[in-house]
Amino acid sequence: MLNLGVNVDHVATVRQARGVPYPSPLEAALICEKAGAWGITAHLREDRRHMNDADMVELQGAVQKLNMEMAATEEMVSIATELKPYSSCLVPEKREELTTEGGLNVIGDLDSLKDSVASLQSAGIIISIFIDPDKKQLDAAKELNAEYVELHTGSFANTNGEVAEKELQRLIEAAKHAKNIGLKVNAGHGIDYVNIEGILRIPHLCELNIGHSIVSRAVIVGMHQAVAEMFNLMKPYALV
Ligand code: PXP
Repeated sequence: MLNLGVNVDHVATVRQARGVPYPSPLEAALICEKAGAWGITAHLREDRRHMNDADMVELQGAVQKLNMEMAATEEMVSIATELKPYSSCLVPEKREELTTEGGLNVIGDLDSLKDSVASLQSAGIIISIFIDPDKKQLDAAKELNAEYVELHTGSFANTNGEVAEKELQRLIEAAKHAKNIGLKVNAGHGIDYVNIEGILRIPHLCELNIGHSIVSRAVIVGMHQAVAEMFNLMKPYALV
């Protein structure tokens, strides 16, 4: 069974565009759960451009499994160890980026990441590392003692034809390698209702984290249907 995690950041983006109290990410998250989402993801950014601290507390108090996407900074580790979400996905973060741009450079930051992971795990939080499909980075994630990696699917999602196929092969090889070295595998970034077909060719997946395409579809058909449509497209994976 392939689980769906819905990232509700962009519900907050719409709210922040006007500085009003609606739409509520919490209300959206509860509908996502009813429509089949296994988990809810929210990224608390340093600049609080969409989710804010109060959103995180509300979500943690109400959803079944909150996945807190976060940079491994002192501030975020301290917030997470107090909040105690079900899981944390560690991502790189730059103020000027529109969205997370690449996987975490685990190799380049091993010692400081080890400390962050240990602090979060001692608060009972399951750790996932957002990573490019690169064997050396996967080995480093294993060294961090992370339970999961989330393979960055952006390079596949944002390309077409032969280039996309090559990126997909990288994801397939990375998933196999992750499984071989004892890491559980999630995937996310840029997944939509069309490219999901390719994503389902990646083996050993536990969970997909999908945000922008679902929130965008929800504007047209409503959140419940947007999630249900994605969930339906994911169902054949269970039969593989
Ligand atoms: N996974 C991670 C680690 C991300 O940073 C993001 C974007 O916030 C997503 C998944 C969801 O990506 P998208 O919004 O493109 O579906």
